[in-house]
Amino acid sequence: MIEIVKNKDKKGLTNSLNINETFRNDVKKGLLSNPKTLSSKYFYDKKGDALFVEIMNLPEYYLTRSELDIFKNKTKKLIDSFTIKADSYFELIELGAGDGLKTKELLKSLTAQNYNFEYFPIDISSNALGQLKQDLNTEIPNLSVKTQQGDYFEVLDSLKKSKHPKIILFLGSNIGNMTDEQAAQFIYKLGVNLNPDDKLLLGVDLIKSKEIILPAYDDSKGITAAFNLNLLDRINHELGGDFNLNQFKHQPEYVEKEGIAKSYIVSKINQTVTIKAIDTSFNFIKGEKIHTEISRKYNDELIEQIIANTDFSIDTKIMDSKAYFADYILTRN
Ligand code: AVJ
Repeated sequence: MIEIVKNKDKKGLTNSLNINETFRNDVKKGLLSNPKTLSSKYFYDKKGDALFVEIMNLPEYYLTRSELDIFKNKTKKLIDSFTIKADSYFELIELGAGDGLKTKELLKSLTAQNYNFEYFPIDISSNALGQLKQDLNTEIPNLSVKTQQGDYFEVLDSLKKSKHPKIILFLGSNIGNMTDEQAAQFIYKLGVNLNPDDKLLLGVDLIKSKEIILPAYDDSKGITAAFNLNLLDRINHELGGDFNLNQFKHQPEYVEKEGIAKSYIVSKINQTVTIKAIDTSFNFIKGEKIHTEISRKYNDELIEQIIANTDFSIDTKIMDSKAYFADYILTRN
């Protein structure tokens, strides 16, 4: 069972600082740690967003295709799991909607069957939301789309005021970037913002062999390497760092027993890097690693453990044809 801190402060210290200040503090703290770390949440600047789109199209990155298979070919199962009547209004809320590729399949099917709902995509990027809204307006003109820009919990807090039934989508194994403790805390907090019988559709990558998982994080074109190393480039641009990207390399690791893909940036030589904005130099020895990302893989037991102290229970599990990926439908008790 995973313990959850249930009265955690809503607004941590970092929320009162601006993004750049938080980035600077996190980079300093991470690089002064032993072992060194940097957070994967900083991958997604403009270049990182574009690289992630490329990753989703890579032959080795099966995650997106597997979940699309579910949304395309098991749409009826998905909709049945929502247990809603076609004529009663509900809100379909997506956390981190991105380009909505998978969700569109669901939206088309719901609209074609005259379900009575509105779609609320939430994203940090107002750019991505604008694009998605435009797309949907042409592809599914009858659909009501209410984009919500901002932090997931701030938006959910504002949506909570309506007592309409809600279905929350959190797809793409985005939860995999969290530790199990963080994931438990996150799902618990979602539950606080929902009512009994509301649903959470959680898309997760499943534990499987190294031969399948590792290439997804180590593609032959080097896109994932560029995605990981872009973090150093971002530090160079935004914080006045002097990382020489040629002197570092991308290194993914996966141990099936543990079920977590981990990404590192490895120093190829002994070197010193200076970051002006934090007025500090950092020494790297040859072979030293900066830990940058975890991509957790799951099974039923892990999902049960993570939700054990939350107000959710597992209703349904829907997998793609290869059983690589699962969408779990959880019900708020
Ligand atoms: C967006 C978090 C699901 O962990 O698989 C892709 C990000 N990192 N390649 C993942 C990612 C390296 C991705 N998620």
